[in-house]
Amino acid sequence: MTDRLDIEVADAAGAANVKADPPKRKVFTRTYGCQMNVYDSERMNDVLAPQGYSVTEDLADADLVILNTCHIREKAAEKVYSELGRIRKVKEERALAGKDMMVGVAGCVAQAEGEEISRRAPIVDMVFGPQSYHRLPKLLEEAASGKKVVETEFDIDAKFEHLSERAARPVQKRPPAAFLTVQEGCDKFCTFCVVPYTRGAEVSRSVAQIVAEAEQMAAGGVREITLLGQNVNGWHGEAPDGKTWGLGRLLRRLSEIDGLDRLRYTTSHPRDMDDELIDAHRDLKTLMPYLHLPVQSGSDKILAAMNRKHTRDEYFRLIDRIREASPDIAMSCDFIVGFPGETDQDFEDTMDLIRRVEYGSAFSFKYSQRPGTPGATMADQVPEDVKSARLAELQALVTSQQTAFNASRLGMTCDVLFERKGRNPGQLVGKSPWLQPVPVDAPEALIGTIQAVEIVEIGSNSLFGRLVAGHHASNGSSHDVIKEAAFDA
Ligand code: 5AD
Ligand code: SF4
Repeated sequence: MTDRLDIEVADAAGAANVKADPPKRKVFTRTYGCQMNVYDSERMNDVLAPQGYSVTEDLADADLVILNTCHIREKAAEKVYSELGRIRKVKEERALAGKDMMVGVAGCVAQAEGEEISRRAPIVDMVFGPQSYHRLPKLLEEAASGKKVVETEFDIDAKFEHLSERAARPVQKRPPAAFLTVQEGCDKFCTFCVVPYTRGAEVSRSVAQIVAEAEQMAAGGVREITLLGQNVNGWHGEAPDGKTWGLGRLLRRLSEIDGLDRLRYTTSHPRDMDDELIDAHRDLKTLMPYLHLPVQSGSDKILAAMNRKHTRDEYFRLIDRIREASPDIAMSCDFIVGFPGETDQDFEDTMDLIRRVEYGSAFSFKYSQRPGTPGATMADQVPEDVKSARLAELQALVTSQQTAFNASRLGMTCDVLFERKGRNPGQLVGKSPWLQPVPVDAPEALIGTIQAVEIVEIGSNSLFGRLVAGHHASNGSSHDVIKEAAFDA
């Protein structure tokens, strides 16, 4: 996901002040984990462009390799180390041909492991945490002088400042759907989670910063923005009216931006779903009918042990309020099975919660002990085989709900934002309002537009559609069509 549309790097320097072009080099970026990492990787590529770096998809062709890592579960870090083994071989082959290769490890594994990474993998030249990537040119310079760079400071304000400087630059061509970070870090301290340690305390960007970036994205062709934050609905930002706004108010403001037809946000915590945000789902045509709202477990005992700060009944009441505001909404969730102390009955409570809520989709994981988190040292760790059996059972239930949700879209006409070419010739792929990919036979000129599409076939994840003749919904106006269709179903 490190593709970058042609980025025109505008050089404000006049003819009298022309600087020598930096040498042409290639960067290969591999991104692991969450959407915020995808966003951060794109920003790293932006920072590197004025340094002469263009993006390559070919590792062997890269002068600089960056692994933007995730630390949320064990296997993620292990994957990074095995990838570093593969990179070492490529680096050695390049060295034989007299070519250099710089290797950087960024993101949450870098933040958590620091120097340990260069000890375990000596080919690594730079280790830098999620809040340091805007300093990449400086770090590259230090690494080029032979220094092993380790940069794991928490300096979120400097990073946000950098993002805002970027928003002030000339408009760049952007893909139709893009991410925008509004908040980073987390103060919730769920007992299984490393995020409060790797991303630090919750910090929100101001309304002015976010609106400026969103306007610039819209001017560059972005039609859909997904607001990102580790605890995005905990966002509360200083507004031009001197007040502090919550996410619902921010979404209202963003929905006024010309050309911005679709808004989404992720990931949310049930405790921070306030009335204003729920009302936004009822009132804003731009706010898509999809909500990722992790509950993790359906057992009150496990929710308390996880420090989730709410009960299952509170979660049910919340879902009722959300569905009252937006009856057509696709609910999505994260679940962890095998948290310490989880009995068969606790797991059954989770299954019961899933049956009651009926999700459109969900992600589920076996609990993994993360060093430094309270869960890692709790008694009654659950054996691996029990976790695996519970995960399989839960995933079968979720898959059946996802299939049923998708099947209920059959025959509906809905808006699709076309994002890219599909696998087959003459095919485009877009997203439905409920976030499923929708492959449709359509001309390439429709990329970046929203069209009315009839859903004619259901795949395991995708909805297959056909263009509805005569409906041109490029201003998003056929959203009403969807709602009618949904109520009829
Ligand atoms: N073990 C398993 N799953 C985890 N998650 C976070 N930490 C852990 C862990 N230690 C899952 C949660 C979270 C998602 C991003 O990853 O479900 O919502
Ligand atoms: Fe981790 Fe999310 Fe809990 Fe924060 S709210 S500690 S990011 S699981």
